[in-house]
Amino acid sequence: MCGIVAYVGKRRCRDYIIRGLKRLEYRGYDSAGFICVDEKHKRFSYFKKSGKVSDLEKGLDGFEHDGFVGMGHTRWATHGVVNDCNAHPHFNCKKNISLVHNGIIEGYEEIRKKLIFEGHEFVSSTDTEVVAHYFSSIFDFYKDLKPAILDLVSKLKGAYSFVLSMEEYPDQIVVVRHNSPLVLGKLEDEIFVASDLLAFSDKTKNVCFLPEDSFAIIKKDSVDMYDFSGKKILPIWQEVKFEFDAVDKQGFEHYMLKEIYEQKKVIDNTINFCRLIGTDSKLSANTKKDNSVDYKIDLEYQDRIWQQLGLSLKQVKNLKKVNLVAAGTSWHACRIAQFFFENFCKIPASVYLASEFCYMPLFNHEDSVYIFVSQSGETADTLQALRKVSPLSIPTITITNVPSSTMVREADGFFPMQAGPEISVASTKAFSSQISVLYLLANRIALEKGLISLEEMKRAEDDLFVSAQILEQSIENYKYKITQKLANKYSKFDKFIFLGRHISYPFAMEAALKLKEISYIFAQCYPAGELKHGPIALIDKSTPVVLFSSLHEIVYKKIISNAQEVKARSGHLVVFAFDGQDELINLANTSFIVPRVNPFLGPLAMTGLMQFFIYQITKKLGCSIDKPRNLAKSVTVE
Ligand code: AGP
Repeated sequence: MCGIVAYVGKRRCRDYIIRGLKRLEYRGYDSAGFICVDEKHKRFSYFKKSGKVSDLEKGLDGFEHDGFVGMGHTRWATHGVVNDCNAHPHFNCKKNISLVHNGIIEGYEEIRKKLIFEGHEFVSSTDTEVVAHYFSSIFDFYKDLKPAILDLVSKLKGAYSFVLSMEEYPDQIVVVRHNSPLVLGKLEDEIFVASDLLAFSDKTKNVCFLPEDSFAIIKKDSVDMYDFSGKKILPIWQEVKFEFDAVDKQGFEHYMLKEIYEQKKVIDNTINFCRLIGTDSKLSANTKKDNSVDYKIDLEYQDRIWQQLGLSLKQVKNLKKVNLVAAGTSWHACRIAQFFFENFCKIPASVYLASEFCYMPLFNHEDSVYIFVSQSGETADTLQALRKVSPLSIPTITITNVPSSTMVREADGFFPMQAGPEISVASTKAFSSQISVLYLLANRIALEKGLISLEEMKRAEDDLFVSAQILEQSIENYKYKITQKLANKYSKFDKFIFLGRHISYPFAMEAALKLKEISYIFAQCYPAGELKHGPIALIDKSTPVVLFSSLHEIVYKKIISNAQEVKARSGHLVVFAFDGQDELINLANTSFIVPRVNPFLGPLAMTGLMQFFIYQITKKLGCSIDKPRNLAKSVTVE
């Protein structure tokens, strides 16, 4: 989604800002802009354009101006179509105040009408331009930055972070944060600003996350920070360890393919990480005379995992309900994990779509926990859901891939996923990493509750290792067939139906989402049992039905019936089945067969193959795989 990069310092800023914008490209955007305070004339010099950062860069060729204060922006359209005019920066009437902004200003139309009435002239259709004019009119009254900003933020509603530059103050910028992240980086006589640390993580790791509801007036050697009541606050600078430096494709054609292949390593790392913080390092195993293994527990390690999650051992033992909140692919991972918590821990698990959660009544259940799952840790819907729960006395945990994210800072506890940077907009390794974390967590809770033994916990980990191997091996098994034959065949269909049952239903939803988002082929997903309640009317030869099997015997039998329902109507059936499920396999036009695993890990074992199949279909269609149209990696507006 939108990206902000800004700089105040002793060097010329243009190259750094363009580089920073390129580092944020993976988040998704449709236009870009650059502005600096020209070092000679102390006037604004800017260029903005719809299209890629490389188009902006080309447009800046031959553009002499550079400066020691500057801002850059990548826009993901929310208000107003994609065109040069709507790209950032935006200005006031005199064009001596400029602004780049992330987020959405609620009720901006009313402010706009009022300002037009007062004589302001607007050139774009954005909410951002309204802020520039509004600030200008407020500043004309106060003639002082601090009270003007305080007045402005008291009137603005919505979610925003912005950087503001004024010709009147050519050696400084103002940064403001409300419900949308901004981070500062520091070197001697240089301050970097960005909406995502990645923009400057190659420059400095000494960073300060602008606190929620605060602003700062920044010069190259000073940061004056205030909260929204005007109280001065001390910036907290910290060294970040976890951020990722430049990531390349390492020879893969797309990030998505690279990330699909990284999944085995990611799952292995997840298991090892859990052991490190308490899952297994607390176990000491003694082989007894009869060759059975006697596992012992080390209490010091036992507590560590729960400390990390912000829970006491007592809370874990007494846990009576788990609530999971997420969006998109992360929500699918939670829907799969629902089966883990309910079956291993024997407690109810509710899974909420973050975008709907905010409208639901909240019940203060004792002995429950809320787990917010997000690859980015910045998804606006999930963050708002976390903020809705935070004031209650229910523990909150964030599971994310980005330790420096807002959700980590705002939840009581945090569990770091071990996926490493995921650049492709379509989530792949984050999905398998989330499933692995939640699977291990559910087993750990079951262990503390005395529902499984240490030996069973060990076995659960081993099952996860095996599933990771199968995930990777299955891609290899079908690589030739998919690339040489199947990708071409299935790229010719313009709509698909996906079906799953029990734990394979949320997995089918994930498969349908993957196909839609990268190939733009229409896909609809249903629980297989719902077929006969309506969707069966859609079955015909020209609509492949992709059916995901299950290793639960009763579920499998029902899945066979669903496959027969499709075949009886001359439907085209593609099945993802497990070894030995011949009755199902024999019904299929195309089948993918995966070795048997722990039934709860069936979806994980099929993950690589499903993603690879969809990736190859999309490649045949020539779509922009890593950056699909209209999508953003980190969805920071509600
Ligand atoms: C999936 O491929 C998408 N990238 C999207 O559904 C994503 O999972 C969703 O926006 C949630 O993002 P998060 O995990 O960063 O919160």
